[in-house]
Amino acid sequence: MQQRTAPGGAPAPLAALTSELGVLYGGDWSPEQWDPAVWPEDVALMREAGVNLVTVGVFAWSSMEPEEGRLELGWLDTVLDHLHAGGVAVDLATPTASPPPWLAHRYPTSSAVDRSGVRMAVGSRNHFCPSSPDYRRAARGIAGALVERYGSHPAVRMWHIGNEFGQVCFCDLCADGFRRWLQVRHGSLDALNAAWGTAFWSQRYADWQEIVPPRVAPYIRNPGQSLDHRRFASDLLLGLYREQRDLVRAAAPGVPVTTNLMGFHPHTDDARWAPELDVVSEDHYPDPADPDGHLLQALQDDLARGIGGGRPWVQMEQAAGGVNWRPHNVPKTPARMRLDSLRAVARGSDASLFFQWRQSLAGAEKWHSALLPAAGPDTRLHRAVRAHGAELRRLRPVVGARVPAEVALVFDWSSWWAAQEPAAPSDRLDVLDLLREWYRPLHAANVTADVVPPWADLTPYRLVLAPQLHLVEDADVPGLRAVVERGDVLVLGPWSAALDGHGRLRPGRFPAPFTDLVGGSGEEYVPLAAPVAVEGVLGAHRVGDWAERLRTDGGEALLVARGGDLDGVPLVVTRRHASGGTGVYAGALLPPAATGALVAHAVAAAGVAPAAAGLPAGVEAVRRGPVLFLLNTTGGPVPLDGLGGRRDLLTDAVLGRRQVLEPDGVLALATSDAAGAGPGTAGPLDG
Ligand code: GAL
Repeated sequence: MQQRTAPGGAPAPLAALTSELGVLYGGDWSPEQWDPAVWPEDVALMREAGVNLVTVGVFAWSSMEPEEGRLELGWLDTVLDHLHAGGVAVDLATPTASPPPWLAHRYPTSSAVDRSGVRMAVGSRNHFCPSSPDYRRAARGIAGALVERYGSHPAVRMWHIGNEFGQVCFCDLCADGFRRWLQVRHGSLDALNAAWGTAFWSQRYADWQEIVPPRVAPYIRNPGQSLDHRRFASDLLLGLYREQRDLVRAAAPGVPVTTNLMGFHPHTDDARWAPELDVVSEDHYPDPADPDGHLLQALQDDLARGIGGGRPWVQMEQAAGGVNWRPHNVPKTPARMRLDSLRAVARGSDASLFFQWRQSLAGAEKWHSALLPAAGPDTRLHRAVRAHGAELRRLRPVVGARVPAEVALVFDWSSWWAAQEPAAPSDRLDVLDLLREWYRPLHAANVTADVVPPWADLTPYRLVLAPQLHLVEDADVPGLRAVVERGDVLVLGPWSAALDGHGRLRPGRFPAPFTDLVGGSGEEYVPLAAPVAVEGVLGAHRVGDWAERLRTDGGEALLVARGGDLDGVPLVVTRRHASGGTGVYAGALLPPAATGALVAHAVAAAGVAPAAAGLPAGVEAVRRGPVLFLLNTTGGPVPLDGLGGRRDLLTDAVLGRRQVLEPDGVLALATSDAAGAGPGTAGPLDG
């Protein structure tokens, strides 16, 4: 994906900052919650911990503008000056995620309304309506004031617009915006009526004013309406982001502008947002109590890198210990905090930033961990924070470096949204579950994958896995087909390509645009009442929930159903082409062992190499530039042979022949080809 230059000016590279500071280390700091006497102590402690960047101002609007139009920024001047004098750079936030109470009090329609018409109250955060002209005027006002005052402040090295955009509002103002968005998308009511299939249930629209957002309704809503509303809601927020970004770019050219995305978050199409950010930033909160926590964080890291076209990204938020928003908040141990932080760096982040620097004493997040706990610096957690700051300084060799990946894992927000619509054959085909299950064997085998949208440039990848591309835009078909046509491997998962870009069924045998490539086709989706035995090249398994009535058309079957109504029906089909390329279609919700066999088959067919081979199970390996990271996710100590003579950048120690990697331990090994070879480094570690 090429980074586009937006009208507000040129994208500013992160490299200008990281080449000076190395890996960015720090997090959100909320000095407005503290007596100013605490600020110098904070800055001194930051320095001691190796913190080199803090995000300031995220939720400080009511401290910056206590009444409409009355700015109080003297305290922020002092804060920025302290930080600058202390050598800590600032990621300055526009505080627009949470307007002060005066806005809602004075302009009630500036607050969002939910599907059932209930207007959000003040007293929490993120209650604004993204369409409200009053909110937008006020947001532009405070953002503009900050930009004017601090645009050339030497401490401010990055800008952070709002926070975790994700509001969805169903008010009348948003309804108007939805109609305008639909007019641009569809051009005419006839086109909209055709796209949404409004002949069904007498839904035909004769006037744009008749259209409303998908509010509470008596029964199943029109899925085309819902899908377009999801897209609209993401675009509406993106417009808000752009407006402030362009203010910053005009006043502070060369300073990177970003906002923190939230991984697989349902309300923003992050793949479409990423090109609008100078650097992709992500908030990651893996649950240390979740056995899949490692896997899920790695997947989200690979998304951050993938949607940014492989560029280094910024881990903007993570927890140092526990969060406060799960029912039972198991804290990270210091070793786990370090492991998660280093995983992000290994997978392409040039930053390890946290929520937050100093634990709040009051408010809704007083039970959330911080780099500096309420108990103070004389704590195990804070000592670990200092130690981590020191070792991050030794990771300069990876700053700016790329993570080679030969595999693309395709994920698309529209497709996810369409697959989530109710009234489908089954609710057991969860897109994120499928993505996770197809990622699992890649992760276990240390095969690095970029998570990318279907419209990304797929030419760098030898293997393209699309676990469930339920909806496929016509415009994306050629790029996907080209994978096989140029000699690479494309694997489509169950229920793929069932819909067109409007969410309408694609008629004909499925997956209609790809049947020739995969050497087979289907005619019926079959939610299963009871498990079905399958066997073939991929082994013998039982398929529990979902199968598809396929047949081979010039291809071969990799798995065939045995017994029952599907007896003899191929469930996974493939075809190898003269180009050398291979297409595969898996028309079943496969159990983990079968998914593992399928992915292994595809990896072998594509000739993709892992980042490192011969490692004990549970040792995660990622190569970034001249460094091979090894992360112990097993929960126990792991003996590693063959590392003799290798240098670990984190400790600057040269390793002996037999190394024991402690639980949650990490090694950052300098590789011999420090210039960074091509993708993959299969072979013995000491080879
Ligand atoms: C994020 C948010 C932070 C803080 C954090 C707590 O979603 O951006 O402001 O609330 O969660 O985990």
